Amino acid sequence: MFMSDAPTEFALPDGVHPFPHRHLTGIAGLQPWEIGFLLDEAEQWIALNRNTSKHDSRLAGLTQINAFFENSTRTLLSFEIAGKRLGADVVNMHAAQSSVKKGETLIDTAVTLNAMRPDVIVIRHDSSGATGLIADKVDCPVLNAGDGRHEHPTQALLDALTIRRRVGRINGTVVVICGDVLHSRVARSNIILLGTLGAEVRVVAPPTLLPSAIERMGAIPYTDFDAALEGAEVVMMLRLQLERMDGAFVPSPREYHHFYGLTRERLGRAAPGALVMHPGPMNRGIEITSDIADDLQRSAITEQVEMGVAVRMACLDVLTRARRGVEGWA
Ligand code: NCD
Repeated sequence: MFMSDAPTEFALPDGVHPFPHRHLTGIAGLQPWEIGFLLDEAEQWIALNRNTSKHDSRLAGLTQINAFFENSTRTLLSFEIAGKRLGADVVNMHAAQSSVKKGETLIDTAVTLNAMRPDVIVIRHDSSGATGLIADKVDCPVLNAGDGRHEHPTQALLDALTIRRRVGRINGTVVVICGDVLHSRVARSNIILLGTLGAEVRVVAPPTLLPSAIERMGAIPYTDFDAALEGAEVVMMLRLQLERMDGAFVPSPREYHHFYGLTRERLGRAAPGALVMHPGPMNRGIEITSDIADDLQRSAITEQVEMGVAVRMACLDVLTRARRGVEGWA
């Protein structure tokens, strides 16, 4: 079902380091070839992850802390599996069981984690910018696993890897992102990444869920889903993030589904064979119907999860190269 492994569309310029960053707090600020480099690196891990034996030992002896201050199923598990497959000692900190509930400040928590001498910290937090704040306070690389409405860089990378493998390219691809764009860090990171790699990004939402300055991010705003689908090669659906809404942003789930739900009939307006994506968790029957979500010819939803482990392995490897003294990185 996969297309051939497409090489990066943006070659590394001569004499330029492929990834000169200490942390991965967002996609904003990354060069196209840096994104391409991470995607190329991830390809090798897709192959390893399909073997019965999935072990590499390059992170042996290193400690990876996953500090999750917000709920997560796939992202936490994916980072844990990624670290373990590379041989790291992985520990998970859940906010529900931590001193955060006792009122400890984020900075105090960061200083405490840092004192345990981790080699990489993966953070999810409900405040936008929390990861950047922690990155400034610790001595090791920090990876953003989603901070508030700000960014979710590994999700955008895994989405890009999925598109690159299924569509064959990103440059010039027409991608529609539909749903709760206002509250979505997934949408933000994807708009930045896909724009950087030359895709045409259209965002669709009810006016109440469409950020006013979205055009400045390079996305084309729509409120009419059917109009946005014209010629779309990728349709990415988003969950209504009710936990981030203080008030009513949509009249009712039923009405929302009528205008913004992806049904088979509506998908017929997109380009033939258009790819359907969703970062999960899905609200079946609201933003997407089950027959589309479960149609393996059209839906890449489980593939996105698979690509997530490979992308996170690539990020953990690349970000720890300097500490491991890898030639050209130290
Ligand atoms: C997303 C998130 O947490 O931002 N989920 C994910 O990481 N797979 C999207 C969501 O929660 O709807």
